[in-house]
Amino acid sequence: MSTICVVGGGGYVGLGYAVALARLGNQVIGLDIDAERVAMLNAGNTPLYEDGLESLLADGLLAGNLRFTTSYDDALADAEFVFLCTGTPSLSDGEADLRQVRAAARAIGERLPTGRRVIVVNKSTMPVGAAEMVAMVVGANAPHGADFRVVSNPEFLREGMVVHDILHPDRVVLGGDDPDATAAVAALYAPLGAPVIQTDHRSAELIKYAANAFLATKISFINDIARLCERLGADVTVVAEGMGRDPRIGPRFLHAGIGFGGSCFPKDVGALTRMAEGAGLHPGLLRAVLEINADARRRFVTRADALLNGLEGRTVAVLGLAFKEGTDDLRESPAISVIDMLEERGATIRAHDPRAMANAARKLSHLVLCDDAYHAAEGADAVMLCTPWPEYRSLDLPRLRAAMRGDLLMDGRNLLDPVNAVDAGLRYEGIGRATKESGSIPAPLAR
Ligand code: UDX
Repeated sequence: MSTICVVGGGGYVGLGYAVALARLGNQVIGLDIDAERVAMLNAGNTPLYEDGLESLLADGLLAGNLRFTTSYDDALADAEFVFLCTGTPSLSDGEADLRQVRAAARAIGERLPTGRRVIVVNKSTMPVGAAEMVAMVVGANAPHGADFRVVSNPEFLREGMVVHDILHPDRVVLGGDDPDATAAVAALYAPLGAPVIQTDHRSAELIKYAANAFLATKISFINDIARLCERLGADVTVVAEGMGRDPRIGPRFLHAGIGFGGSCFPKDVGALTRMAEGAGLHPGLLRAVLEINADARRRFVTRADALLNGLEGRTVAVLGLAFKEGTDDLRESPAISVIDMLEERGATIRAHDPRAMANAARKLSHLVLCDDAYHAAEGADAVMLCTPWPEYRSLDLPRLRAAMRGDLLMDGRNLLDPVNAVDAGLRYEGIGRATKESGSIPAPLAR
């Protein structure tokens, strides 16, 4: 059993690791600067929704091996490991903002004990070279004789699946220059039985960015193919299925739609692009990934504009606000970009989301927020589906149509069956699913 301090212990990543490390039998103290969050957590309430989080939190609090504090002195008093899980948001040029990380490294350094070793575990996604920066800042603030090592240990967690992904990792990546320190961190994960990849700091840091950029590239690739499908009269859902059956390609992350959002992909692809530019390279592929992603949202709105003969004065029902299904997170949500563009063009929005209504009421209070999809569709000229919530798959389409003023259904996630939609009297427009009306050009051989 080890004593572990988790810095940023109230956030998605930090809280996930705090409860999971306690579950594995360690003594864990979560540190967060937000006193309200800390009080909530100590009372057994989670400030964010993640499957399995609340019950593991309750278990840890009850067993007495998990607690939360706002005090660095308290959190670091006996810590053998310090997990750095602070946020690394984007600066306006896409570069990662490391101020929170630097502040944490300084605070850790100032409180390092002498006479026993502390291992700082870098979890936060930081540009290549950050582990060396953390070591420098910790060292510059540490008392004489302090003994510490930094190990880079990126996470690959999906929102909504944080607890599952921590307890069932596909791999554990450890970067560092001290084999004893990496072995000590590997031992924390040993009960999970995952393959361990041991490498240097920089390779470990790049693995995280490369993995996210690759997945984002898969999405932009299929969205680019979707544009082609529209022009050439093909159906991208079938093209993706046909491609994905090849095990070298695989079916996942090939769902065409209005693009990726969330707290990771846009930020990390942007940061990797900046890193490549900073290294004197021209990251054409990464730039294209971001450009296609921005274009996917824009094209969705431009098509609505064309199909409704202008958006001024139109009422649009937006189904889905979260950046993906299974979460209430609105950060970088494609749905929000779509809403912004619709509003700029004079449309009024009625919106629904199965889980993000409370967040929407706080952040998007000017919208007409509706109890369900049918309520949102009342009097709408168009329904635009933006987040692929499974419950929308079983929408009663005739009922939806009856509630609307117009008949346009734009499916930004290819979730619905076009035949059922047409049978319900709707004009269906998906992504990359060409119809005669959607402007496809004759195939080259038929010309
Ligand atoms: C992602 C990575 O999956 C995870 O490994 C990393 O640690 C953090 O970033 P997350 O942001 O939770 O996780 O969401 P993910 O499920 O990967 O989806 C990201 C976005 O891509 C969503 O907006 C989703 O709707 C979109 N997406 C996903 C597509 O548009 N098409 C797809 O085929 C898959």
